[in-house]
Amino acid sequence: MGDAPDSGTPDLDAIKDQAIAAIHDARTTEDIRQVTAEVSGKKSPLAQASRRMGALDPDARRELGKQLHDVRSTIEALLDARRSEIAAEELATELAGSRIDLSEYIPGSIPAPAERGHLSLVSLTRDALEDVFVGMGFEVAEGPEIESDWYNFGALNIPPAHPARSMWDTFYLDLGAPESTMLRTHTSPVQIHLMEDAVAHDTLPIHAVMPGRCYRRDTPDARHLAVFHQIEGLVVDRGISFADLAGTIEVFTTAYFGPDIHSRLRPAYFPFTEPSAEYEVTCTICHGEGCRTCSQTGWIELGGCGMLDPAVFAAVGIDPEEWSGFAFGFGIDRCAQMRHQIADMRALNENDLRFLRQF
Ligand code: PHE
Repeated sequence: MGDAPDSGTPDLDAIKDQAIAAIHDARTTEDIRQVTAEVSGKKSPLAQASRRMGALDPDARRELGKQLHDVRSTIEALLDARRSEIAAEELATELAGSRIDLSEYIPGSIPAPAERGHLSLVSLTRDALEDVFVGMGFEVAEGPEIESDWYNFGALNIPPAHPARSMWDTFYLDLGAPESTMLRTHTSPVQIHLMEDAVAHDTLPIHAVMPGRCYRRDTPDARHLAVFHQIEGLVVDRGISFADLAGTIEVFTTAYFGPDIHSRLRPAYFPFTEPSAEYEVTCTICHGEGCRTCSQTGWIELGGCGMLDPAVFAAVGIDPEEWSGFAFGFGIDRCAQMRHQIADMRALNENDLRFLRQF
């Protein structure tokens, strides 16, 4: 214990007034340091006053404690304020004397943090579709975007001059060459690659989905793009029936679009499947009521499907008496459009950040 307690109550008002005056008079950082010690340090009148508390009876002690606390808060707030003022004044003086390098303060010298982008809606949709199919037991495979006539057409039971070729008119790279090559018009050629590989390595059965980019000589409109994306599905196994195909499509549809959206298959024609069907889902815009987008039918076409045609099995050397299977193919861009109610599919390709940032 330092100073012996004085008798009598300390004059807190006087202590406060003296402190205020001293703080007010401080001019420099050094001054304010000294004043801080004088008015709130260990030897300050305030500290001495608080030491007297021990000698008081409980009520008086509580009262003095409260007053001391108030005075101390006031003094400390004033010290803080004056300290900041002095620092600002000193900085201003320093700047005025140009003794520091102002370029440090130019905002442009601080590199702006690079803005991080994210996957496009098409990639996000492809990933989500893959997840659903992987959850159903499918593997994911890929194939080349440039295909020979054989993979894009021939092996899929579309011989030269077959009228179905016009449905898949495309960009030929060397039209007229003995075996012309082209930008693939669908992901169905990947079926052929997978079946050939499985035959070569004796790894049947196959349960795979194959997402990828496709090209057609189409004029882009609200529901078509010349460069678009499909996801193909292929199952080759023993005893596969049309019911397996329909069930797979329905399970996928509700898993991806939600429990209110269902699938239906309508008879159709594809040279590489028999029987073939068009795969439609409940219109996500009107939920099946009928609207402009679905031409009042309540259904939107997503793609095609069917049982593998024996001619395709023959092309890859699989015995159709032992194996059967189904395939389906539908648009990834179309799925994104349906799921997110995108009025015009061309928005997917336009790089408009206002559109892309929403996903
Ligand atoms: N490849 C067809 C298309 O692009 C879709 C399809 C895939 C049809 C598999 C049947 C089986 O239109």
